Amino acid sequence: MNIKSICCIGAGYVGGPTMAIIAAKCPHIKVTVVDLNEARIAAWNDADVTKIPIYEPGLSDIVAEARGRNLFFSTNVDQAIDEADMIFISVNTPTKTYGIGKGMAADLKYIELCARQIASVSKTDKIVVEKSTLPVRTAEAIKNILQNTGNGVKFQILSNPEFLAEGTAVTDLLNPDRVLIGGDGDAEGQEAVNALEAIYANWISRDRILTTNLWSSELSKLTANAFLAQRVSSINAMSELCEKTGADVNEVARAIGMDSRIGPKFLKASVGFGGSCFQKDILNLVYIAKSYALNEVADYWEQVIIMNDHQKRRFANTIVSTLYNTVSGKKIAFLGWAFKKDTNDTRESAAIYVADYLLNEQAHVAVFDPQVQELQMQSDLNYLATRSEKENASGITVQQDPYEACKDAHAIAVLTEWDEFKSYDWHRIYANMKKPAFIFDGRNLLDGKKMEQIGFVFQAIGKGK
Ligand code: UDX
Ligand code: ADP
Repeated sequence: MNIKSICCIGAGYVGGPTMAIIAAKCPHIKVTVVDLNEARIAAWNDADVTKIPIYEPGLSDIVAEARGRNLFFSTNVDQAIDEADMIFISVNTPTKTYGIGKGMAADLKYIELCARQIASVSKTDKIVVEKSTLPVRTAEAIKNILQNTGNGVKFQILSNPEFLAEGTAVTDLLNPDRVLIGGDGDAEGQEAVNALEAIYANWISRDRILTTNLWSSELSKLTANAFLAQRVSSINAMSELCEKTGADVNEVARAIGMDSRIGPKFLKASVGFGGSCFQKDILNLVYIAKSYALNEVADYWEQVIIMNDHQKRRFANTIVSTLYNTVSGKKIAFLGWAFKKDTNDTRESAAIYVADYLLNEQAHVAVFDPQVQELQMQSDLNYLATRSEKENASGITVQQDPYEACKDAHAIAVLTEWDEFKSYDWHRIYANMKKPAFIFDGRNLLDGKKMEQIGFVFQAIGKGK
């Protein structure tokens, strides 16, 4: 099957960048990204391409090249479905906030709505690709909905999980470690797998394209995220022990990372992992394990989340206890709010939880982040529903200038590892702070020795004295 037209439902952090790269690399395919969110689509279509709704290094250039040629953003979901040979589902699958599985299971209502819409609109055979991370066997539910339309249209379902990390989405998409495609083993299933493989083969060598059955593909995505998150929780667990024993977690990470069986990546101790995937996917894994009564499996993975929550609380606690057990009325400057550098995404960012904790202690938090807007920060805090919107609005001040954020502060907390923080004029920052001036580096980003020479009291994650 030769794919000429693709529709992607969901213009978010996954759908937007993925489709931009497919369009750039496959000028012969028309790619239409649709979303119910009109403001989001309008931003993707903004004449000023730097205003696209997702900040990713290199993305705006790629969108500028392909947009209007073979890449389109639209709110007309029905039309795009109707025209497409292949439909990617890239809608969000947040953790359920109600009913059975509340707080654990993935909420599949958006996926089901998509499947029903595809079923009702389609007049020709289509390949439907699950891009969103989904619980194992979701393809079965999608299949059931699509195959019972009674209008004679045939659907093939593929699982093609996305492994891109935010902040490096463009390079990850251009040069992925692997592409995973799961499909049915019969002839039609394999034909659909081949059609998707042919698209990726436009820029990725075939030996990096893995094909599996549907269920292995769905479970591999959850497994990959669980393993990655587990590495962060493992090094974070060691960071606490390092602080007690006088070891340095960076040295420990380097020493173990040189063991080729362990490898050097994903061993950076931090204030805790965030992002839309790790916590959600592990909770989902725990829920699935419990639903099969695999309680030891569930407990094992749940510990990764418990450790991460502990790390965020511990960081906030350290700030309070170091500042003489009270931060009430004190100004704490936050450098960074995004869950990692080079993104404007704040979902599950450790900064939100640390801010929440400090606001409970009646601190005043002044935030600077190079990419996150004030409205987003307020909405992140309001979502926690710990206090009223009014209290949140008066509890934090958002600054456009890092020097203003740090002025008259008792302490600085580094929450995101933005590169630019390293090259600030730290002498100037020190001069304008309350003394003693503290830095709590939740990302092990700054040069501790240099900071101490300037006069700061400096604390990094996982560095014992
Ligand atoms: C992750 C997976 O990496 C990606 O494959 C999947 O598709 C989606 O989930 P993402 O959440 O975008 O990607 O970012 P990632 O780089 O994995 O970082 C996740 C969190 O872990 C961030 O908060 C990051 O700061 C933290 N982290 C990562 C650490 O604290 N230490 C590390 O060594 C690595
Ligand atoms: P991700 O990080 O997985 O890409 P996002 O939340 O950034 O998640 O993006 C998902 C997008 O999917 C949102 O912009 C949302 O409006 C969109 N969406 C959800 N359900 C539908 C639907 N039925 N039709 C069209 N778009 C949808």
